[in-house]
Amino acid sequence: MALKLSVIGTGYLGATHAAAMASLGFHVVGIDVDPAKIATLSRGEIPFYEPGLETLLQEQVKSGRLTFSSNFDDAKDADVHFLCVGTPQIKDGLAADLTYVNASLEAVAAIAKDGALIVGKSTVPVGTAARLRARLLEINPQADLAWNPEFLREGFAVEDTLHPNRLVVGVANDRAENILKEVYAANLAENTPWVRADLPTSELVKVAANSFLATKISFINAMAEICEAAGGDVTILAKAIGYDPRIGNRFLQAGIGFGGGCLPKDIRAFMARAEELGASQALEFLREIDSINIRARQRVIELVRKDLSEDLRGKRVAVLGAAFKPDSDDVRDSPALDIAVQIQGAGAIVTVHDPKAMEPASKRFPVLNFAQSVEECVKEADIVLHLTEWKMYREIDPVSLKKLVSGAIMIDGRNALDREKWLAAGWKFRALGRA
Ligand code: UGA
Repeated sequence: MALKLSVIGTGYLGATHAAAMASLGFHVVGIDVDPAKIATLSRGEIPFYEPGLETLLQEQVKSGRLTFSSNFDDAKDADVHFLCVGTPQIKDGLAADLTYVNASLEAVAAIAKDGALIVGKSTVPVGTAARLRARLLEINPQADLAWNPEFLREGFAVEDTLHPNRLVVGVANDRAENILKEVYAANLAENTPWVRADLPTSELVKVAANSFLATKISFINAMAEICEAAGGDVTILAKAIGYDPRIGNRFLQAGIGFGGGCLPKDIRAFMARAEELGASQALEFLREIDSINIRARQRVIELVRKDLSEDLRGKRVAVLGAAFKPDSDDVRDSPALDIAVQIQGAGAIVTVHDPKAMEPASKRFPVLNFAQSVEECVKEADIVLHLTEWKMYREIDPVSLKKLVSGAIMIDGRNALDREKWLAAGWKFRALGRA
C-alpha cells in the first residue's frame, strides 16, 4: 500500500509539495488554518502565480488523490506529515518567527498515529528540529521527526519539487531514512543525489545554501560598484570570471539585488542564530552581504537623481516590474517596489507595471500608481526604470516606446536589456556596474 501523506501549511512550498506528491501516486491531504485558502485549493485554484502549478493541482484534485482541509483530524491516517509552514522574519529583530512551526508541531503531534513520521521542510534556525523532536516524543512517543529542507525556486517550483538536484534528509535513525526513501523512490530511481545527515546539519544545509547564493549576488554587485568607480563593465567581468567552472556563471547577474521571502530573511535569521550560539563572528560577512544588497537599491535612486534632479518632486517615474523576480507574483521584500516606494516618498509620481504582480503590489503599496500596460505606464514619463527582468520587457521596441515618454532615459536595474538597441533608438541608457 502506498504511504498516505499530509502536508501542513499550503503556501508556496506546501501547495507545490502536496500536488507533486499526489502526482507521484500518493494520497495527500493538505492542511491549512486558513479556510479561504483551503476553499481556493479545493477548487483546483492557486492563490498566487506559479507556472505549471495550477494545472498539476487541478489534475490531482480531479484524480481524488489530493484533498484539502482546515481540520487536523483529516490528517490522522497519514503515515508521513510534512511541515511546510512559513518562518518569516520577526517584526522587531533579525530572527525567524517560529510561531507557525511550533503551533503546527503541537497540532500534528496530537493527531499523529503510532509510527507516523513528521518531516519538517520549513527553513528553521539550527536546533529547532531537535527541540521539536523532543517535544513530539513527549506528547506522542510512538511518532518520530525528521528534517528534509526544500530548495525549490519560485518560478520553477514544480520542476524543482519533482526533480530536485539533491535530497537532504536529517534523521535520527534508519527507520526515518527508510520511510523517506519510500516517499522519494521516484527521485532515487532517477539517481538524484541523496544526502543523509543529522538533524542540525540538515537545517544548516538550507541556510548555508541560501547564504552562498546571496553572497554570490552581493559579490557581483560589489564588483559593479567598483566597475562604476573605475570605468569598467560588470557584465563583461561576470561573463569572464564565470567561465572558470570553479566560479560558474550562474547567480552573477549584477543589478538591484536579491529580495523575496527567502534569501533576505534567511541570512538575517542565520546571523541571529549564530549570535545565540556564540559564533556570530563566523557570519559577520553576511552583514556586509546584506548591506551591499540594500545599497544596490540606493544606487538606482542616486542614478535617478543624477539624471533628473536632486529634487524629485513632481517628476514622473515609470517602473517596469514589481515582483521580486520574473515568473513570480511574489512581492515580498521586492527590490523593485522598495525603489518605487522610496522614489514616490521623495515626491515623484511613480507608476508601476508588472505582468503578474499588480494585485499583490497594489495591496501592499496602495500609494503607488499602477498601469495596465507598458505603454500606459511610461506615458509622459521623465525616466523609465527596468527593475524586474520579465521577458516581455526585453521584447519592448525602444523606438516606439520613445514616442510615448517625455524623457528618453532608461535605467536598467537588472542588466537584462540590450543596451546597443536602446542607444541606437536614441535613449540615454544607464545600468548598474556599466560605466
Ligand atoms: C531561493 C533559492 O534560490 C532556492 O534554492 C530556495 O529554495 C528558496 O530561496 C527558498 O529558500 O525557499 P527564490 O527566493 O525563489 O529561491 O529566488 P532566487 O531565484 O534565488 O532569487 C532571489 C533573488 O535574487 C531575486 O530577487 C533575484 O532577482 C535575485 N538575483 C538572482 C539577482 O539579483 N542576481 C542573480 O544573479 C540571481
